[in-house]
Amino acid sequence: MNACIVGYGAVGPVHAAAVDAIDGAKVYAVCDIDRGRAELCKEKYGSFIYSDFDEILKDENIDVVHICTPHYLHGRMAKAALLAGKHVALEKPVVLTMAELEELREIARSSAGRLAIMLQNRRNASITELKRITESGEYGELKGLIGGVYWKRDDAYYAQGEWRGRWQTEGGGAIINQSIHMLDMMIHLSGRIRNMRSSINRWKVESIEVEDTASALIEFESGVTGIFNATNCFFTDEPYMLEARFERGKFRYADGRLYRIDECGAEVIAKDTGVMVGKSYWGSGHFSLLHDFYSSIGGKDAPYTTVEDAYLTMKAVFDIYGEAGVPCPNNLH
Ligand SMILES: NC(=O)c1ccc[n+]([C@@H]2O[C@H](COP(=O)([O-])OP(=O)(O)OC[C@H]3O[C@@H](n4cnc5c(N)ncnc54)[C@H](O)[C@@H]3O)[C@@H](O)[C@H]2O)c1
Repeated sequence: MNACIVGYGAVGPVHAAAVDAIDGAKVYAVCDIDRGRAELCKEKYGSFIYSDFDEILKDENIDVVHICTPHYLHGRMAKAALLAGKHVALEKPVVLTMAELEELREIARSSAGRLAIMLQNRRNASITELKRITESGEYGELKGLIGGVYWKRDDAYYAQGEWRGRWQTEGGGAIINQSIHMLDMMIHLSGRIRNMRSSINRWKVESIEVEDTASALIEFESGVTGIFNATNCFFTDEPYMLEARFERGKFRYADGRLYRIDECGAEVIAKDTGVMVGKSYWGSGHFSLLHDFYSSIGGKDAPYTTVEDAYLTMKAVFDIYGEAGVPCPNNLH
């Protein structure tokens, strides 16, 4: 299968490395408006270079389009690629408005091409084990989750790209970009949200319009109480922290490991593994998710994260911005 990586910035090379590691898959083409970045991909994989997205849709040799571009381009590009009959691996966030999400969901249901969403952290080995424990009921019902994201995104980070830090082009800040994975892991474990109270703030980063900090109290329909805290104002990037309290047990996800905690101490019961390319806190899920996506396209039974899986997470993101009444694209439609 021939892939085209659209956007060869920070995460595009992770997609390319993952594709290159899949048997029978090839980084056939790259598309970037920045010629220098596209050349990097060509040097490494011998890929053809495109600069115009619409041109790749006409190339019948391209089977899978990887969308690794700024957020505001996701909806238009994913829709066009699916309508052109391509398979699509789309980076998070899916889109910037609920209307676009509903439209893409409809197109994905009826199109020949498949659509995978890169919410890869729910596939980390520790989270997979926590999900198994939740479903097995061996420690009783899941009662509570506390999720924390403590990262560093300062003025220098935001200066790397004009699209970052703006409501119209990034669609938000700490929630829709960095900590969307934590919301996704919590929703993956607990399901549909019944009620949510949330707040967003800009504590520190003055060059941006969007939030650098957010918190929420989430009441799930399953009865689980969720506390979510996220900030981009820490001095470094901490791995995700998630604590899960069951009726008869307590588990902590930290430093890429899952611990079972009891009165005697903490025991490691799972460890995130896999090929790490890119930042360690992105996790290793890109490789496994894309591997399963390509296997599924090839006719094997290999589950990948679909737009249906991502739906509740995107709705939660939009609800938080809705409650805050901020001028993000979703609130303008
Ligand atoms: N899943 C994850 O863990 C993860 C990690 C990092 C980034 N991301 C997501 O990946 C996406 C890209 O993020 P990034 O940090 O790589 O951004 P980036 O700004 O570093 O790279 C984006 C690239 O897209 C190119 N581009 C812009 N407009 C284009 C167009 N019209 N056609 C073709 N190329 C175009 C830019 O030139 C740039 O090379 C974002 O949606 C981000 O949220 C996801």
